[in-house]
Amino acid sequence: MQISEVQEKIRELKKQKDICILAHSYQAREILEVADITGDSYKLSVEAAKVSNKNVLMCGVHFMAETAKMLSPDKRVYLSHVDAGCPMAEQMEPEFIEQIKAGEPDRKVVCYVNTTAALKAVCDVCVTSSSAVKIVKAMEDDKILFIPDCNLGAFVQKACPEKDVMLLQGGCPVHAAITADELKEAKAKHPEALVLVHPECRPEVTELADFAGSTSDIMNYAAKSDAKEFIIGTENSIAEHLQYRFPEKSFYVMSKRLICPNMKLTTLMDVYKSCIEVGTETDREIKMDDELIAKAVVCINEMIRLGG
Ligand code: 13P
Ligand code: SF4
Repeated sequence: MQISEVQEKIRELKKQKDICILAHSYQAREILEVADITGDSYKLSVEAAKVSNKNVLMCGVHFMAETAKMLSPDKRVYLSHVDAGCPMAEQMEPEFIEQIKAGEPDRKVVCYVNTTAALKAVCDVCVTSSSAVKIVKAMEDDKILFIPDCNLGAFVQKACPEKDVMLLQGGCPVHAAITADELKEAKAKHPEALVLVHPECRPEVTELADFAGSTSDIMNYAAKSDAKEFIIGTENSIAEHLQYRFPEKSFYVMSKRLICPNMKLTTLMDVYKSCIEVGTETDREIKMDDELIAKAVVCINEMIRLGG
């Protein structure tokens, strides 16, 4: 089957089965084209709460589908590939965070959305990369433990000097692997290019960049900028999508290593198969118990309240 034929079948199934497809911007273009809502983690979590369809299919990684389920517990939520997880989401045990909280009860725990529901259940406020600084600034509390990403945490720490932000060792293995030398090499090849990076990169990389922001922030920056060349320091699909949208500008990847294998697991065929399986008993469906949802959704609702 041609790509366009598979896409047509997906569109028919969406109508027949009342499915809303949400896709993270790291997904392939042919998947974004059949999605109803595309964007970064913040947009997907806010929009997931508003969806009116009976079924939601998340094309991304597991914590994103779990977040959608928590925000729409009465809907059936499916993940496009059962093995698509985010290694960062699994990095910290809830019991370990509870121990820290017991020792410092006046320190509020802020968790990145890239966490399991079990970990969110012991945290006070959730953030995404596009809302982290705004939310930490908006919190009444001054003492904060930011988990699990120490690079995004360091970015927040720098932007919020008025707060006491404690960090633990954790982060995205894809973004954190990128070195300042790789940025310098890319810049040496393209001296006129602006460097745009994700705050999941190490501080020494973020500090050398012209701009650091979430996936959507990077895309908006490139769209509005008068510059003609950009080095993109986040998952390489973003450079590809930007090049397609703005053929008159040039986008270069900072490193060929900036590929998230988990986000790349989903293919258009997986989306098609997922749509076929919607409404049946399938491993792709997210099942969560009500008690866990009730505990974990508190910090997501707090994010939506503080994030506007
Ligand atoms: P954002 O979508 O918040 O930019 O995060 C990028 C990412 O790594 C998703 O897991
Ligand atoms: Fe997780 Fe990093 Fe992949 Fe995002 S890019 S899903 S944080 S491993």
